[in-house]
Amino acid sequence: MEYQLCPSILSADFNRLGEQIQTLEKQGVKWLHIDVMDGDFVPSISFGMPVIRSIRKESKMFFDVHLMVSAPERYIQDFVDCGADSITIHAEACEDLERAIELIRDAGVKVGISIKPATPVNDISHLLEDVDMVLVMTVQPGFGGQKYIPECTEKVQELKEIIDREELNVDIQVDGGINDSTMETAMRAGANLLVAGSYVFNGDLESNVQRIHQKMQDISEKLN
Ligand code: DX5
Ligand code: ZN
Repeated sequence: MEYQLCPSILSADFNRLGEQIQTLEKQGVKWLHIDVMDGDFVPSISFGMPVIRSIRKESKMFFDVHLMVSAPERYIQDFVDCGADSITIHAEACEDLERAIELIRDAGVKVGISIKPATPVNDISHLLEDVDMVLVMTVQPGFGGQKYIPECTEKVQELKEIIDREELNVDIQVDGGINDSTMETAMRAGANLLVAGSYVFNGDLESNVQRIHQKMQDISEKLN
């Protein structure tokens, strides 16, 4: 199982975004989590294509774009054009989720689907064969710095059981409230892609990443 820390630039210092991305890359971070919010699907507005396009020029990391956007199928091609390597859409945001998955696939990038804390795994379990990743939100989408919702751990477990039973090749990502203790909880439940905003960016970025990578490594050794 490949574990990755996926720092969310929502918690970055936008005045020093390029420099912070370089620091992450130097520390061996492979995934960059990019939270796009539209002020409709979620209350807040973050950033969009121009920011992604401009950091794309400077980074070779895997751009994991999390669209917290209503009717995201309208924007798939735009996000691919500005440099996304994967696009994650919310099950709750799409009228025709299967069609939206197809559009992402046809655009040539990896496909992720996400569920909010109140959305059951059952709502998406029939689509697992068609996706590369499921993002289980562990807070209400919309803001960084919230507390991990413990009930979401069971959803990760449930998903992991289905994926293993059906021998599917699907990553499980968790997003929201990840820290020293919830990281271990989520990994034990079956998550392998760990999004973290404040945990990574609050304080000294370089030493945080080193410490978190070490911790992930220790936990994964215990689990294997
Ligand atoms: C929340 C976003 C998250 C957020 C995580 O809607 O999807 O990616 O930035 O932030 P932390 O790790 O601070 O909870
Ligand atoms: Zn996110």
